[in-house]
Amino acid sequence: MTDQQQKPIVIIGATGKTGRRVASGLAARNIPLRAAARSTTPAFDWTQPDQWDQVLAGAGSAYITYHPDLALPQAEEAIRQLVDCARRQQVNHLVLLSGRGEEGAQRAEQVIIDSGLSWNVVRASWFMQNFSESFMAEGIMNGELILPAGDVREPFTDADDIAAVAIAALTRPELRNRVFEVTGPELLTFADCVAEISRQSGRPVRYTQVPLADWLQALQQQGASRDLLWLLNELFSNVLDGRNASTAQGVRDALGRDATSFADYVSRTLAAEIWPQACHA
Ligand SMILES: NC(=O)c1ccc[n+]([C@@H]2O[C@H](COP(=O)([O-])OP(=O)(O)OC[C@H]3O[C@@H](n4cnc5c(N)ncnc54)[C@H](OP(=O)(O)O)[C@@H]3O)[C@@H](O)[C@H]2O)c1
Repeated sequence: MTDQQQKPIVIIGATGKTGRRVASGLAARNIPLRAAARSTTPAFDWTQPDQWDQVLAGAGSAYITYHPDLALPQAEEAIRQLVDCARRQQVNHLVLLSGRGEEGAQRAEQVIIDSGLSWNVVRASWFMQNFSESFMAEGIMNGELILPAGDVREPFTDADDIAAVAIAALTRPELRNRVFEVTGPELLTFADCVAEISRQSGRPVRYTQVPLADWLQALQQQGASRDLLWLLNELFSNVLDGRNASTAQGVRDALGRDATSFADYVSRTLAAEIWPQACHA
C-alpha cells in the first residue's frame, strides 16, 4: 500500500444518503476514513470555510457531497474554496458527487476538473432513495405522493450503486480523472415508481400530479426555505424536462456489473422496513 492510500479519506456529508454508504463501505474494507458533517469533530459546515483546513489536514483524498444541492448558484464558489483548501492541505484526489443535467452542478464539476489535483466526478440521476430517505418518503408513507411531474421519464439510480462507484473512484487509481455518469438501468415516470412501491408493499399508494406553481406556493406556506424553493423550481421546471431521459453506463464502467433496478431497490427497502408500518398494511 502506498503512503497516499494510508492517509484517511475524508467523507464530506458523511451522515447523508451517499456519504454514510461510502463511509460504511470504506470501514468494511478497513480503509482509514474521516467522517465530516456539522455534528462531527472536527465539524464541517459549508457556511464556515475557516473550519475546513482542520477537516482536510493530513487526508489523502476526499469524497465531496455539497449541501443542499450542487445546482445552487453558491455551490460553484464553495467548491472553488474547498479545492483551494485541498491544495493547501496537500490532499491529492477529489471525488465530487454531482447531478445529471444540472447547469450549476456542471460549473462546480469544472472547478474540480480544472483543479490540477487528481479527480473524479460521479454524476448521478435522481436517487431512488428520494422515495424512502428524503422529501418523497412522507407521501409514500401517507399513501399519496403529490408532485408537479408528469410523464417525464427518469433513470432513477440506487444510492448503493452511487456509493459503490464513489468507493471505486476513491480507491482504484486506474479510474482517476474520469466522469462516471451513474443511472439506473430503466426509464420510469414518478407514477411508475409509486405503482411499483404499491404493488410490492400490497398497499395502495397513489400518485397525483399538481401544477408546479401551486405546489411551490404550498411549500412556501409550510415554511420551505428560499434555497429549497429555488432548487425545487429548477429541478421540476428545467432538469426534469426530458433532458435526462436516457440511461448511462457509469455503474458498468466503474464496477463491471449492471445497475440496480427500481424493483430490487423497493424489495430491499421493504425488507429493511425503511417505510415503517404504512407500507406493510
Ligand atoms: N437526491 C438526488 O436525487 C440527487 C441526484 C443527483 C445529485 N445529488 C447531489 O447529492 C448531493 C447530496 O448528497 P447526499 O444526498 O448523499 O446527501 P444528503 O442526504 O442530502 O445529506 C446531506 C449531508 O450534508 C450534511 N449537511 C447538511 N447541512 C450542511 C451544512 N450546512 N454544511 C455541511 N454539511 C451539511 C448532512 O449532515 P449534518 O446535517 O449532520 O451536517 C449530511 O451529511 C447534493 O449536492 C446533490 O446535488 C442528489
